[in-house]
Amino acid sequence: MKKTIIACALAFCAAAALTVNAQQNADKGGNMQLTIQAYKAIGYPGLAGMPGFSEKLLADHIKLYQGYVNNVNALSEKLAALLADGKEKTPEYAELKRRFGWEFGGMRLHELYFGNLGGAGTPRIDSHVHKAIRESFGSYEAWQKDFKATGAMRGIGWAVLYKDKVSGRLFNAWVNEHDGGQLAGCVPLLVMDVFEHAYITDYRLERAKYIEAFMNAVEWEAADRRFHDCPLRPVDGGRAIL
Ligand SMILES: [Fe+2]
Repeated sequence: MKKTIIACALAFCAAAALTVNAQQNADKGGNMQLTIQAYKAIGYPGLAGMPGFSEKLLADHIKLYQGYVNNVNALSEKLAALLADGKEKTPEYAELKRRFGWEFGGMRLHELYFGNLGGAGTPRIDSHVHKAIRESFGSYEAWQKDFKATGAMRGIGWAVLYKDKVSGRLFNAWVNEHDGGQLAGCVPLLVMDVFEHAYITDYRLERAKYIEAFMNAVEWEAADRRFHDCPLRPVDGGRAIL
């Protein structure tokens, strides 16, 4: 029996697919074919020459991001093969499954990060995201103070402005590495990488200067678009339908 599983259908996935042929579980018999859509790294030529970010810093950072994409594809293939071979109860499967969340987070957070760079750093006061920021934080300045403080926290990770689809509230959250502290059910609107690799080439250990450069290069149209792409969930009898 042949069975095809499409793991992802995002628009930026590669056209080519990874195919895994493996022996199906012994109790079912026969062969199983898994077809897994591979991710393809996004290019960011529009960021070249962005003020505050050297060519070398951006090139190295994008190359590092491409490694996450490669590892997501490799792990997808490996996990599918282990499952098809009936090895889903092994320690190897469990560790690779945990690793997948870290690699996928690294891939997607970088795409959100590069995707919200390349702008002038000033949101339109009449934009919906600016209005939502004022409603949740009192003022744009109060939000920015909190966002910068979140990004300046010791450790490696991300500062993320989230929108809660249930309440509409916005939060600044710290994401540890790529997979700790993400707010479930919330949508990232603005993402700032604060791993040392994001700034050490240009700013040494002066993270505050990098954060200033980031704020001056934010593409707020991207954040506003993400805000619109996640309408609030309907509430039925006091419970959100998620
Ligand atoms: Fe990074």
